[in-house]
Amino acid sequence: MTLKNSIEFLDLKAINNRFEPQLSQTILDVVQSGRYLKGEQTAGFEKEFAAYIGTRHCIGLGNGTNALEIIFRAYLELGILKKNDEVLVPANTFFASFLAVINQGLVPVPIEPNLPTFLLKTTGIAKAISPRTKAMVMVHLYGRNAYHENIHALLKANGILLIEDNAQAVGSRYLDKKSGSLGDAAAHSFYPAKNLGAMGDAGAITTDQDQLAETCRALANYGSITSYEYQYAGTNSKMDEIQAAILRVKLPYLDEDNARRNQIALKYLTQIKHPKIQLPLPANPLQTLQHTWHLFTVLVADRQNLMNYLKKFGVEAAIHYPTPPHQQPAFKASFPGKALPLTERIHRETLSLPLNQALTEKELAFIIDHINHW
Ligand SMILES: Cc1ncc(COP(=O)(O)O)c(C=O)c1O
Repeated sequence: MTLKNSIEFLDLKAINNRFEPQLSQTILDVVQSGRYLKGEQTAGFEKEFAAYIGTRHCIGLGNGTNALEIIFRAYLELGILKKNDEVLVPANTFFASFLAVINQGLVPVPIEPNLPTFLLKTTGIAKAISPRTKAMVMVHLYGRNAYHENIHALLKANGILLIEDNAQAVGSRYLDKKSGSLGDAAAHSFYPAKNLGAMGDAGAITTDQDQLAETCRALANYGSITSYEYQYAGTNSKMDEIQAAILRVKLPYLDEDNARRNQIALKYLTQIKHPKIQLPLPANPLQTLQHTWHLFTVLVADRQNLMNYLKKFGVEAAIHYPTPPHQQPAFKASFPGKALPLTERIHRETLSLPLNQALTEKELAFIIDHINHW
């Protein structure tokens, strides 16, 4: 089989083209409105996104990292968390999940994931709980919903807050509830490559807790509740009107896009047959959109060889991520000599195959065919 063009890992232009001409028109409308921050687009998106997720509140922010940081900061300001409290975090995650905890003077406690879900299990979480544990970051990694009632019951029984890091899984569900509505508060990212991607940085917090929402909103607005009076030494993190307008065009299509991602993932899962490639666990077929397949990650000991081989045929694969948070130079002081063998193995062997709603059937067949011939 041959293909004229190369297959990019993520062709954002093709993904966003689908929303034309509405996208260009909505940007033009904002340009001509003269209102670029704190206007009707952001307010509209906050309302629509809260309704989509199923929470009372949504606060639009500059990015997902700020969303996580501001949640922790708000709990500190409210006296619900204290500096040096321990926060359980999956060891296998993106750097920002750790960063938000460390930047707020809290102590991340990394927990090894389970294969092949790449997520945490109740037993692993139970072992990591200490009297100082006050919160947990539940990362719906690669798009797979990580929630389970048993985990939540364990956390509740120990007075531990459940904070969802929903950066990779916007639209994923646990039964009839969406990620972002399952715990005490959730952080979302609309980084352009995310399933609901803006055209620049953007993020949001969702929660049902009124006081937390008010505090987060103030903290994102320099610490101000009423104009020019500052209750907290906050920060500045706003979703801008252009990003909000873009997200409002795309949000109504998110479920359809995620369903298409599930179809592609199923093809990979049923048609890739190679003894050296370990595939991820399929999504539960009885559970609608349990997984949003933000990333389709396989484990392969000789990943560089597979990557180079695919590249020869014009197929771009990617690594998410090459080095785990506990081994990053920035966190050297936090985890001296810490060994997390499973997480380290995942980072050594993980390879993400192209998976997005712009991928054609022909491209998909081409990728699968070449992988099987590796
Ligand atoms: C798991 C996870 N957490 C947090 C973030 C941070 O989001 P942002 O890039 O919008 O700051 C990202 C993505 O970038 C992520 O993948």
